[in-house]
Amino acid sequence: MNKLNSIGIIGLGVMGKALTENLLEKKISVSVYNRSTNKEKHVISNFISTNKHITDLKGFTKLLPFIKSLKQPRKIILMLPAGKIIDTLLKSLNDLLINNDIIIDCGNSNYKDAKKRSDFLSKNKIEFIDCGISGGQEGAKKGPSIMIGGKKTNYIKIKSFLKTISAKDNNNLSCCAHMGGLGSGHYVKMIHNGIEYGEMQLIAETFSLLKIHHNYNQIANIFEEWNKTEHSSFLLKATINILRKKNNENTHILDTILDEAKSKGTGVWASKEGLNIASSNSIMISSVMARNLSLNKTLREKMNLKRNKTDNSINLNSLKEAFIMARIINHHQGFQLLLKASSLYNWKMEISEIARIWTNGSIIKSNLMIELIRLMKKNSNILKINSVFKDLIKKEKSIKKLILFATQNSIPVNCYSSAYNFWISVTSKSLNANLIQAQRDYFGNHGYIDIEKNSFKNYNWH
Ligand code: 6PG
Repeated sequence: MNKLNSIGIIGLGVMGKALTENLLEKKISVSVYNRSTNKEKHVISNFISTNKHITDLKGFTKLLPFIKSLKQPRKIILMLPAGKIIDTLLKSLNDLLINNDIIIDCGNSNYKDAKKRSDFLSKNKIEFIDCGISGGQEGAKKGPSIMIGGKKTNYIKIKSFLKTISAKDNNNLSCCAHMGGLGSGHYVKMIHNGIEYGEMQLIAETFSLLKIHHNYNQIANIFEEWNKTEHSSFLLKATINILRKKNNENTHILDTILDEAKSKGTGVWASKEGLNIASSNSIMISSVMARNLSLNKTLREKMNLKRNKTDNSINLNSLKEAFIMARIINHHQGFQLLLKASSLYNWKMEISEIARIWTNGSIIKSNLMIELIRLMKKNSNILKINSVFKDLIKKEKSIKKLILFATQNSIPVNCYSSAYNFWISVTSKSLNANLIQAQRDYFGNHGYIDIEKNSFKNYNWH
């Protein structure tokens, strides 16, 4: 009889291949399936022929033999783009799988789809797990950060192999954990990506400010200095490498790339989620907006205005302080969003554990993330920790200077501005929201809280 394999992978795109290689490397036998239509005709045959020495690997272009090649209860990982393609596939799998088989959706699916999909499969007692994976191709191959949602009983059934293939933290613990009920794995990944967008945009804005008086090599050197300290991060390292890359004509690769930033959805979903649950995730929202603003290059070229620049360059110490401050606020906003969602959706998330599994494998791994584990064990709202609060008070002047410099040089700093506005708002006893309440009451009779009488009322404005 043919030997049955331990794990099935559906979808042999870049991430599917990398995850398969990771599993095989850990001596876990794998069956892979990919459709063989049009451009994907040779995906399986090519992959199998490049790995023909590996006996633990089988490839299929038909679902039934793929399913039959797996040990029961089957564990099948979906590595597919978010959307309809997954629902179509689940319909076919629903006819072929049986009681207790488990499907693990490891793509960047919308968290709201998890419950719907699980309900659909549960009629045939097929189990469904939503799973966020971070780390890109390299992470998937060498060890990603893994965020699991769904029933704890299902998590227990799959955790040993997921922990084996995941990244390890500083204490050699797996960067893989159960987040909460259905949808929570994809939810946490979505907010992870919102933070990722913020981090990327903050680096990009810092780059724009430096670019006025520094060349790419000098900027890479400045970032390299920062990256040697406790402020290092994967994204900063990636940016240093990008800034240094040149083609054969000695042109920076960066200068050959159209400056229109695209996205695949998770950053927008994360931003919307903050708006939906009234969380202050302004940095991720601003980073999506900055991408949107970049989109119409042709129009920007037509409306291009030449503006004066200052003779003086930005003070590097103060720039670094502002960068550190904005990053702390970006992470704080993301984690506060998660906390609010966790209590709203009853997920009972352990917030410092989420930081822990993002310290390796993840695109947003950094020294700050390691520090956040310690801080959030003290208080999940890090701004309430005296030392953090005092540190940000000291850095406030740096972010002010940055915004002034950006204004003088007409450089858009969407995320830095959001960080600054957030900071001065949360540290202001009085805001103008009483005027907003008055306006709402004036034209819409919406009512307000009378602070003198401590009661809710309407005023007869007219
Ligand atoms: C990760 C990344 C990854 C994400 C890309 C693309 O953690 O590995 O978040 O999952 O898909 O970064 O995102 P955008 O195309 O939306 O920028």
